[in-house]
Amino acid sequence: MNTKKKILITGGGSMLAYDFIRTQSEKYDIISVEKEECDITSFESIIQCISFYEPDILLNCAAYTSVDDAEDIGMKLCYDINTLGSYQLARATSAFWVDCIMISTDYVFDGTKSEWYLPNDACNPINAYGMSKYLGEKLIQQANSRAIIVRTSWLYGGKIYGNSEWVFQNFVNSMLRISEDSSELKVVNDQHGIPTSCVDLSSALAEIIENIEERDYEGQIFHLSNSCESGGVTWADFAREIFRILWKDIQVNDCESNEYPIKAKRPQWSILKNNSDITLGDWKIALRNYLEGK
Ligand SMILES: NC(=O)c1ccc[n+]([C@@H]2O[C@H](COP(=O)([O-])OP(=O)(O)OC[C@H]3O[C@@H](n4cnc5c(N)ncnc54)[C@H](OP(=O)(O)O)[C@@H]3O)[C@@H](O)[C@H]2O)c1
Repeated sequence: MNTKKKILITGGGSMLAYDFIRTQSEKYDIISVEKEECDITSFESIIQCISFYEPDILLNCAAYTSVDDAEDIGMKLCYDINTLGSYQLARATSAFWVDCIMISTDYVFDGTKSEWYLPNDACNPINAYGMSKYLGEKLIQQANSRAIIVRTSWLYGGKIYGNSEWVFQNFVNSMLRISEDSSELKVVNDQHGIPTSCVDLSSALAEIIENIEERDYEGQIFHLSNSCESGGVTWADFAREIFRILWKDIQVNDCESNEYPIKAKRPQWSILKNNSDITLGDWKIALRNYLEGK
């Protein structure tokens, strides 16, 4: 008899889903659906999918993640997916009594705090993507009081640049690509956060799933990022660590956010305080593992 928990992943083509499936498939019976099979903006599509697969848990990785385009050309789509889509999922899982985990972001905060952000700290997003995720959180809580929300930060995962034709867009891969043509880079040093590996986040999600019945996680907001001894790092620190691990002789020069003409403002300080006994390993070790293709 198959006693593995059945997990339905929406947004199955995402970077996070890729690593969750890669690392957790032995433990769980994972069904991963992409937009074509389950469009989270369509209640009907979600209902059909849940009633067909009958999962124990729904893990939502579907999102609109183009932070800059969300400011203008992608704004409607961003709210449709991150706010209304999350709401539809919460309603449907509530109706079917299916546990659900929704992924959110450090960008729900404005970054004006100078210490860790706790789950109950006031949210005040400063860009449309952050606002769409924040409103999504609110509607999720309203529609399904048992839904678990996991906020994370600065995610990277999937294959690394250079090893495959097909890689996800993330900061590490961008640095590797840009450094092919340049031995000196300017990287922002006035935004602080914690880089987080999708592999480590997947293990933490698996731990939540493992204990979902015994522990009182219902309605909880988790802050799950890799551990960071120094509290947090800047994008420039992150870039330097990538090249240090790879022994690549690339000069990383600090610069300020306003030197880059980007559309969305980013919080200057978005360090999430992990409030649970579920912990992720050190960010530098996680990064080394990623760069070594583990
Ligand atoms: N990346 C980060 O740095 C970061 C940081 C903090 C939190 N997060 C959160 O972590 C989660 C995973 O992020 P990620 O970077 O792994 O995502 P991602 O790689 O950008 O993937 C998002 C996925 O959602 C799918 N999608 C879009 N609209 C959909 C719809 N209507 N129905 C179903 N699927 C849809 C996309 O499919 P198409 O490509 O076909 O449109 C894509 O496969 C998201 O909730 C994100 O907000 C990410």
